[in-house]
Amino acid sequence: AASLKGRDFLALADYTPQELRYLIDLAIELKRRQKSGETYHPLKGKTLGMIFEKASTRTRVSFEVGMYQLGGHALFLSGNDLQIGRGEPVSDTAQVLSRYLDGIMIRTFAHRTVIELARSATVPVINGLTDSEHPCQVMADYQTALEHKGRLEGLKVAYIGDGNNMAHSLLMGAAKLGMHMSVATPDGYEPDAGIVAQTRKVAADTGSIIHVCRDPREAIEQADIVYTDVWASMGFEAEQAERERAFAAYQVNEELVKSAKPDYLFMHCLPAHRGEEVSEGVIDGKHSIVFDEAENRLHAQKAILAALL
Ligand code: CP
Ligand code: NVA
Repeated sequence: AASLKGRDFLALADYTPQELRYLIDLAIELKRRQKSGETYHPLKGKTLGMIFEKASTRTRVSFEVGMYQLGGHALFLSGNDLQIGRGEPVSDTAQVLSRYLDGIMIRTFAHRTVIELARSATVPVINGLTDSEHPCQVMADYQTALEHKGRLEGLKVAYIGDGNNMAHSLLMGAAKLGMHMSVATPDGYEPDAGIVAQTRKVAADTGSIIHVCRDPREAIEQADIVYTDVWASMGFEAEQAERERAFAAYQVNEELVKSAKPDYLFMHCLPAHRGEEVSEGVIDGKHSIVFDEAENRLHAQKAILAALL
C-alpha cells in the first residue's frame, strides 16, 4: 500500500495492471475483514471531502460508510452549496480543501475539472464519475466478476449501448486486466476514439482483444459478462427521446442474451431503467449480479482509500 500513498485515482489508465490487481485483492481482503466483524481503522483521524455536482446514491453512501468503517470521516459537499457553484476557481477550491482534508472525491461533468482539481490539490483526488470516466465503478465491477468467475484473464466482456463513461472505464480496465471486450453502439454513440486507441495500446501488451462494432449480436457472441448502462447519462436528459429511438435495437433482453455463454453474468452499474436498456427478465433474472456489484463499491473504494490516504 505504501507505494500508492499520495496518488490520485482519476482514470484506470494511470495505474499498472499489477497496481489494479493489488487494489482488487485488497478490496477482497477488506470485505472479508468487514464480514467477519473485525475492526480495522487505518484512516483514524483522516477526513475525505466528497464534492457532488451530480446526483448519487451508491457513490455517496459507499464512500461515506467506507471512510467511517476505516476509522475516518467523510463530508458531503454539494456543488450547489460550495462557492464553486458561484464561480470560485477550481484551483482555489483545491488549495483550500487541501488545508483541511486528507483526500477529495469529486463527481462532476467535465473530466478536465477533475484533472484541474488534482493538479492544484496537495492531497489525493479520487474520480467519483465524470462525463468520460467512472473508474471506481469498474474496480467494483471487475472485483465482482473475479469473485463469481474465479479469474479475469481471458474473460470476454460485451458492452451494449452508449459509448459513455462506463464504456470507457470498462474498456481500459479490461485491457489492463487481460480481459477481451466487445462494444456495440449505434452510429454516433461510439466510445471516444482517443480512449479506444489508448486502450488498444495497453491491450497489445496484455494480450486482450478490443473490438468495437455496431451489431449487439456480434458483440455479445460467447460473452462471459454482458454489461449495459443507461441510454441517457446524467447531463444528457434533454436527449432522452432522441436516444430512445437511436438505442431501440440495443436492449439487453432474453432474446439477445441467447448469444452469450450459457453461464454469462449480467452487470449494470445502476441506476437502471427496466424496459429501456435492459429487460426486467434479464436484470432481475438468475444471471444478474447487479447488487453484488453495488455492494462491492463499498469494498473497492475502501481499498482505494486505504491505499491512497
Ligand atoms: N453506479 C453509481 O455510481 O451509482 P450512483 O450514481 O448512485 O452513485
Ligand atoms: N453513465 C451513467 C452512470 C451512472 C452511474 C451516468 O453518467 O449517468
